[in-house]
Amino acid sequence: NRIWFIVPAAGTGSRMQADRPKQYLSLAGRPVIEHTLQRLTQALPDAAVVLCLNPDDPWWPDISTPDCELHLAEGGKERCDSVLNGLNLLSGKAADNDWILVHDVARPCVRTDDIRNLVSSLQDDETGGILALPVADTMKRAADQNPCVSRIEKTVDRNQMWHALTPQMFRYGLLKSCLERALAEGVQITDEASAVEWGGYQPALIKGQRDNLKITHPDDLWFAELFLNAQQA
Ligand code: C5P
Repeated sequence: NRIWFIVPAAGTGSRMQADRPKQYLSLAGRPVIEHTLQRLTQALPDAAVVLCLNPDDPWWPDISTPDCELHLAEGGKERCDSVLNGLNLLSGKAADNDWILVHDVARPCVRTDDIRNLVSSLQDDETGGILALPVADTMKRAADQNPCVSRIEKTVDRNQMWHALTPQMFRYGLLKSCLERALAEGVQITDEASAVEWGGYQPALIKGQRDNLKITHPDDLWFAELFLNAQQA
């Protein structure tokens, strides 16, 4: 089966408070997106990459692309819409049982070993699964959704809690049908696994690493640079 990466890269990154989307900010001397694409193609050189971009993105033309089969899809309103556009672009190209690895462009520190481990752990799996990280802190469920101050409703057993990372790896046919149906039903989808779970499947959790952080806030660039340096040391 062929492997295709889908890289959603159409977010505005408003939480970064920068003059451009976060994938175009400089990390260790190169735009974040160049690190991310390089990691993916180093991990799986035969995989093709589908990059989901805003149609009027003025920064993309200045990016150096790695030597790989690259397709461009249009970004959508939400992350899941961008991913679905990427899946639609592969219609007629990908077979139903080809593997899709969705990876956030904002995770430039993902280790090539972890990507390969995800693929080798799941290649015979019926459903697929995700890189994830067991939670270290004690987890509290809040009584409401106020992000600044709230009350504890209850403590959740952290022994069964994981952070969802990317890549998230699913069969093309399964992911496309779950995502289409979940979006048509108006289900809130924040990652691919949540669509597949909603479809009645139980995706695998494969342990990843703390340094696979998603650049979200301004100081994350600083952490990412530390992680990249530590990985090379
Ligand atoms: O905003 P957040 O960090 O959750 O975005 C995760 C990923 O989804 C990023 O790589 C971002 O570029 C992408 N995204 C997208 N289309 C959107 C929103 C986010 O491709 N409409």
